[in-house]
Amino acid sequence: MNPERGVLVSGNWKMNENHFEALRLVQELAALLRHTALPGGVEISIHPPFTSLRTVQTAVETDHVPVVLGAQHCHFDDRGAFTGEVSPEMLAKLGVTYVIAGHSERRHIFGEDDDVVRKKLDGIVRHGMRAICCVGETADERESGRARDRVSEQIRAAFSGRKPDVLGSFVVAYEPVWAIGTGVSATPDDAEEMCAAIREDLVSVAGAAAAAIRIQYGGSVAPETAGELVRCPNVDGLLVGGASLDAAKFVAIAAAAI
Ligand code: PGA
Repeated sequence: MNPERGVLVSGNWKMNENHFEALRLVQELAALLRHTALPGGVEISIHPPFTSLRTVQTAVETDHVPVVLGAQHCHFDDRGAFTGEVSPEMLAKLGVTYVIAGHSERRHIFGEDDDVVRKKLDGIVRHGMRAICCVGETADERESGRARDRVSEQIRAAFSGRKPDVLGSFVVAYEPVWAIGTGVSATPDDAEEMCAAIREDLVSVAGAAAAAIRIQYGGSVAPETAGELVRCPNVDGLLVGGASLDAAKFVAIAAAAI
C-alpha cells in the first residue's frame, strides 16, 4: 500500500443474499465495525445484488455504518430498450459510489469484451461514480506466458486516451481468473509483480495521473492472506468475493489491511 492512495477493501457479494439476508449481513457488519478499530486510510465498499441496493443503502445511512455502497455491474447507456439492464444513472440516484466493471464472470459468462468494459467505465464516470475495472489472465494465458500481455491489453483498452482529471477516480482490480473462487490465491510476490506491471502500463497511458489510481488484488482473499497482500507496494486494496459473505471474515480482512 501507499499512504497517499490509501486502501480500498471491497466485498463483491455476487448473486448471493436476497434482500432479507442482505439486511442481516449489513447489520452483522455494522455490529462488528462498531467494535473494530480499522487502520486509518482504509475504505470499505460493499456490492450487493441490485435487488438489495436500496435496503442496504437505507441500513447503512440509518445506522451510520462506515462503508460505502457499491454495485456489481451496469449497462453503459442511461436509458432505453435494454430489457433487464440497470443504468449507471439509476445506480447514482441510489447513492452508489463504486461500480465493478469487467469482472471476469461478466467477461467469460456474459461475453463482455474490452469495448463494452470501456463504455461501461464511460457511463460510470459520467454519473460521478467510481469504476473498479477488473483485469486478469486465465490459467491458460498464465501457463503459456501471455499473462502480462493480456492484462496490458485490458488496461490499455480501458484507460488510453482518458482525460487526466477523471483518471484518479478509477480503481483497477487485478484478479487472476484462476484464483477467483478456487481457494488458491496468487502469492504476494505474484500479485505485486503484476500490480507493478499494471502501474507501468497506467503510467504509459495516463502519465502522472497514474500515481493516484488504486490497484486492488482479488482472488481467494482470506483473513490469513489479506495483510501480506496489502503490504505489497503496488497493492492498494482487495476485492473479496466468497469471504465477504461472512461478516466476521470480511471485517477481519479489512482490519488486516494496513
Ligand atoms: P473470491 O472472488 O474472493 O471468491 O475468489 C473474488 C472476486 O470474484 O471478486
